[in-house]
Amino acid sequence: MQPLDPPALLAELTLEEKTSLLSGSGFWHTRAVDRLGIPSIMVSDGPHGLRKQAGPGDHVGSGESVPATCFPTAAALGSSFDVDLVRRVGVAIGEEARTQGVSVVLGPGINIKRTPLCGRNFEYLSEDPLVSGELGAALVHGIQSQGVGASLKHFAVNNQETDRLRISAVVDERTLREIYLAGFERVVRTARPWTVMCSYNRVNGVYASQHRWLLTEVLRGEWGFDGLVVSDWGAVDDPVAAVAAGLDLEMPSSQGTGPARILEAVASGALSDTVVDAAAARLLRLVDRALAGETRAATGDAATGDADAHHDLARAAAGECAVLLKNEGPLLPLDAGVRHVAVVGEFARSPRYQGAGSSKVTPTRVDDALTTLRARLGDGVRVDFAPGFGVDDPEADDAALLAEAVETAAGAEVVLVFLGLPASFESEGFDRDHMDLPVEQVRVLEAVGAANDRVVVALANGSVVATAGWEGHAGAILEGWLGGQAGGAAIVDVLVGDVNPSGRLAETIPLRLADTPAFTNFPGSDSEVVYGERIFVGYRYYDLVDRPVSFPFGHGLSYTTFEYSDLDVVVVDGPGSPADWRGAGRIEVSLRVTNTGARAGKEVVQLYVGAADAAAPRPVRELRGFDKVALESGESTVVSFTLFDRDLSRWSTRAGGWVLDPGAFEVAVGASSRDIRLGATVVVDVPRPALPLGRGSTFGEWLDHPVGHDLLIEALRIGPGGDLTPLLEDPETVKMLSSFPLTRLVTMLGDAVGSALVDRLLAQLSIP
Ligand code: BGC
Repeated sequence: MQPLDPPALLAELTLEEKTSLLSGSGFWHTRAVDRLGIPSIMVSDGPHGLRKQAGPGDHVGSGESVPATCFPTAAALGSSFDVDLVRRVGVAIGEEARTQGVSVVLGPGINIKRTPLCGRNFEYLSEDPLVSGELGAALVHGIQSQGVGASLKHFAVNNQETDRLRISAVVDERTLREIYLAGFERVVRTARPWTVMCSYNRVNGVYASQHRWLLTEVLRGEWGFDGLVVSDWGAVDDPVAAVAAGLDLEMPSSQGTGPARILEAVASGALSDTVVDAAAARLLRLVDRALAGETRAATGDAATGDADAHHDLARAAAGECAVLLKNEGPLLPLDAGVRHVAVVGEFARSPRYQGAGSSKVTPTRVDDALTTLRARLGDGVRVDFAPGFGVDDPEADDAALLAEAVETAAGAEVVLVFLGLPASFESEGFDRDHMDLPVEQVRVLEAVGAANDRVVVALANGSVVATAGWEGHAGAILEGWLGGQAGGAAIVDVLVGDVNPSGRLAETIPLRLADTPAFTNFPGSDSEVVYGERIFVGYRYYDLVDRPVSFPFGHGLSYTTFEYSDLDVVVVDGPGSPADWRGAGRIEVSLRVTNTGARAGKEVVQLYVGAADAAAPRPVRELRGFDKVALESGESTVVSFTLFDRDLSRWSTRAGGWVLDPGAFEVAVGASSRDIRLGATVVVDVPRPALPLGRGSTFGEWLDHPVGHDLLIEALRIGPGGDLTPLLEDPETVKMLSSFPLTRLVTMLGDAVGSALVDRLLAQLSIP
């Protein structure tokens, strides 16, 4: 296909044609304008594998789709903490999309896991915006390297499924900036996705699809997004308000109603035709990019999807994502001399490997753990199996299954128990109401644990499950998440030690639901949910209130051990690395990590920063860098990070921007948020950020202002009532007066300072 000439086409399109482009054709296509040779392009879900519906479409996962590699879900990929691996998964998804003629992949989803109960947590990466942003960017880079666009979703603050098409997330701006928008900002600025998908929900009362501040001021104006904004499927409530706010493409087709209303609005003067032009131009640019991508593929510049190679990648990836939570004994890896293994749990032969809804892929094949284990251990090892429980099976005879499981487990050298969430427990479209495993599964574990004291639990779930109630019955626990079509085989790779586990928790496993930060504010009522925990999401909350958890953010064991040493933290005198969107590079951090065990393994080195002297409440520590390093036994390496202004800053609503407070910062490096191995305190010597002064500013704010301070002192010195500055020699007095708006002090002091003092000072600063 020839590339398009968007500016020339825009000039030739009629207003009707332009508006027609702003709504889809059917479920998965943009509209064509045959007269001018503008083709229709296809978009398809989704985040962990392609769901191309060749026939009539739907967006709830019920219709058939073309077989594609089902990679580990985002919940799993988040735990890999491996940017390169996630990029390679993106490349493979992009290859398959290109091979199938799909121009835009509807993913990744990078919403923050605000609560373990969100039904869609399996589609999201982390409770932390750095992990979501870095790994989201890796997926976008990978997909787009194949000449296929990504769609970063769901923008924004889509953290629950309950009432998802109407719910208003009530969130203050600092929380938006530091937590819910931060990952999106990182992906947009660093990976430049072709499209962003707006979410269904409202943000502070306004539908995301009509949110001008979000779609235009922040996304385009501040972050420089130059792509197209597409609606989530059916997210547009008012098509005119949506286009005016910055939405370009309504999906799926609105059967002509959206374009008709936009036309009417232009005709009546309610909507400017320049807004329509801008949206149509962005649509043309997207089609042009897609055509250029096809050309690249046709000329052999992009690889074609190879099912075997992609299956192998899916297996390797799932192995990198599994998190070894606990390993007493150590029970794992299985002893090479083992001769009799019992496997319990239906999931061992019927794996649960992906979630339900729009992301559901038709896999090219599925590996189950039981078959893989038998093949791997060979004929010399007895592997007995008992399902133990039925999964979403009303006819299961629990008592008989349990008795069989106990009998199977009793004589074995080790029992591998495969537990997890049935598909009916978590899905797009609804939230969970608890975070427990099904009771019949826990019963089986308890009974098996009573019959055999060498029990390993392998978990399959898309969102965390509480482990506190049953973990005493298991010597080892391996969290496999929903690991994609090769997840069953990958778990075996880890159990037998062919793969050394290196996944780390991208979300905390709390002791109980009542401990979770959003507990009192979820899922809201009357279509409104208040984000009352503010910036204290996930580990930021547990650390603030010093609450014990089952397994902390960043945790994950290995079959080897790592030692951290030689931490070096240098505050660069003046900006170090050239400034980018994160500001100046200010602190250089390096350390040595050594594999002190007997096996090769991978460590996720985590860098946390705490602002000890912050002028506003801040988390104890926040993740500001991570690096996954592979080390042979005995090998060591130096890991380095740069901390930029942004990494040390907080969002100030009053300042209307990021502010860097001077003072002490804790720089901590560790193997989890609660396993800090090395730390240093550094002092950042920058001027205290000056808040913009105005009529409402306090006496203290005037004193803190670099220019305002001197003007005020001078005015007080030469005021009509004589020199008042001696009053300021008493620190207690200054402290007490500091919280008074200057206007009120002036009123009280009256003639002593002159009633026009504030007006005069503001005029001197040219503030209206
Ligand atoms: C989901 C999106 C998805 C779209 C198309 C919506 O229901 O929220 O994530 O991309 O459907 O299937």
